[in-house]
Amino acid sequence: MKTTRLIILALASALFFIASCDDDNEPFVPTVPPSNLDYPNHPSDTVTIGFFEEATSGPASILGDTVISFSFTSRPYHEGDMAIDNSTGEIIFRSTLSPGFYEIDVTAVNEVASQVFRRALVVNKLESPPTFSNDIQPLLQSKCAPCHTNPEGGLPYYLDYANASQAIEAILDRVQRSPDEGGFMPMRGEPLSAEEVGLLQGWQNEGLIE
Ligand code: HEC
Repeated sequence: MKTTRLIILALASALFFIASCDDDNEPFVPTVPPSNLDYPNHPSDTVTIGFFEEATSGPASILGDTVISFSFTSRPYHEGDMAIDNSTGEIIFRSTLSPGFYEIDVTAVNEVASQVFRRALVVNKLESPPTFSNDIQPLLQSKCAPCHTNPEGGLPYYLDYANASQAIEAILDRVQRSPDEGGFMPMRGEPLSAEEVGLLQGWQNEGLIE
């Protein structure tokens, strides 16, 4: 009886010794599958290409252990006009891509699992860089009147270049909210179209030309 107990004890400590020796070399076991895929450059899911030649989504921000690689499919099929960088997740939209509505499935894979993230993208194009006097002022005049178009109105006035360019972040934020969300603009109006949002976005991207 006593010998058996001794043997078990010896075996147990030997095992413990081996296990603790092994600790340092233990391979890293990933536990977190890819999650929370996001593209900070296109919070609106509206992509403007054409004059801009190519548009890029910016590197994907994503959670997950170990190396994550990316691939994607689109509906309608992209036919080489969209590409994904398989290590950064950045999506590139080429100028040959037709304007329209695309549904994209981005697949992110690590050693634990693969996850599919569905995104809806509106692609539009601009022929030339938008300017305040040709494109932006008429848009704000038609969509934001009478509230922001009256200099005496008590609300921010957006029909002069200085005010509108300085407020572009706030304008883009408000027009991309959903109508049932607080602060949606145009207040009590129809949401701007993807093209109109793309115009404002393009004006900002191209350096707020007067
Ligand atoms: C029917 C009136 C109305 C229309 C139309 C309207 N707004 Fe507004 N807007 C308001 C009111 C009232 C506020 C203040 C309340 C708030 O901040 O939500 C406001 C606030 C804002 C703000 C925040 C201003 C700040 O300094 O905090 C922005 C940006 C804005 N509107 C943009 C727009 C844009 C762009 C359009 C057109 C696409 C538009 N609004 C159309 C009434 C309107």
